[in-house]
Amino acid sequence: MEIRRVQPADKAAVLTLVNEIAADDYIPYCFDDWVEDQERCVFLAACEREKLLGVANVQFLSERVAWLQALRVAPDQRRRGVGRALSQACLEQAASAGRQVARLLIDVDNHASLSLTAGAGFRKTAHWLRLEKTTESVTAPALRSPQRDELPHLVELAQQHGLHLWHTDWNTYDLNLEALQVSVDNDTLRVLADQPTTAMLDVTFDEEDGEYRAFNLVGPEAAAKRILLAMEKQAYEQGVRQVAVLLAADSPHLPTLQKLGYSFTWVKDPQGCEIADGLTIWEYDLTQLSK
Ligand SMILES: CC(C)(COP(=O)(O)OP(=O)(O)OC[C@H]1O[C@@H](n2cnc3c(N)ncnc32)[C@H](O)[C@@H]1OP(=O)(O)O)[C@@H](O)C(=O)NCCC(=O)NCCS
Repeated sequence: MEIRRVQPADKAAVLTLVNEIAADDYIPYCFDDWVEDQERCVFLAACEREKLLGVANVQFLSERVAWLQALRVAPDQRRRGVGRALSQACLEQAASAGRQVARLLIDVDNHASLSLTAGAGFRKTAHWLRLEKTTESVTAPALRSPQRDELPHLVELAQQHGLHLWHTDWNTYDLNLEALQVSVDNDTLRVLADQPTTAMLDVTFDEEDGEYRAFNLVGPEAAAKRILLAMEKQAYEQGVRQVAVLLAADSPHLPTLQKLGYSFTWVKDPQGCEIADGLTIWEYDLTQLSK
């Protein structure tokens, strides 16, 4: 098996492989950028006698962190070490580009990927539960985007509340000003219009699921409750009938969400038992590769 960078000429084969796994994958939308942007990412293919076996991508999020994503192995090539080899190649690329940490995200019910990742030496650093609610007409303050001079206060607020990761719709950054700026640039960061530095949320609209999806709920209980209601109000007024919040499993806001009528959704673990739906974040210490 050979692992090399994906070339523009691989596009048809990559799209065919990805489409065999899921019709709604994001890789087709990213293909051109990932192939072109060799500074900020390394898009890898595993091949054997001209046949494409799998792909994976490393994106450099900061000087410190590499984000591993888009690991896909052709269904008829699984369980022969392709995924493990692509993962290892991604780690080596990230380490040789001077990054210290490799990070990735896995759904709680992706048992194959969870097992591969744990076996490759990654450590689970976050577990976010998904809670959702049907929107109603509620009385709540307005939301707005934060102003530039409010951002340092918001970083401080998040640190005071124990956050060390910042998740945008796609990537999980170290929590700092630069990461919040990514959300500002994406126009997803929201604060309360009347009390802008008491709480925040990163809110995206998922067109496919027709829902508002929020990460990084930050603030003391009363402000957190107000900003959740403010999101619900805005969603309702825009005709969006579902809101979902991804919340750390140990978050003190869990009872607040449940009181507001949010509930878990359920998926199956490998034994067939129901577990709360959500996401996990895993990290690999790249400095150990250079030892
Ligand atoms: C996850 C995926 C990339 C694994 O690829 P793969 O080439 O089959 O994985 P490997 O053969 O390298 O397996 C390495 C280890 O992962 C684990 N693993 C892989 N598939 C597994 C499965 N179906 N069930 C349980 N564990 C599994 C095992 O621990 C395995 O080691 P072993 O074979 O010695 O027991 C592949 O199943 C896939 O493309 N899935 C769909 C896309 C996806 O979920 N990508 C990850 C997004 S986070």
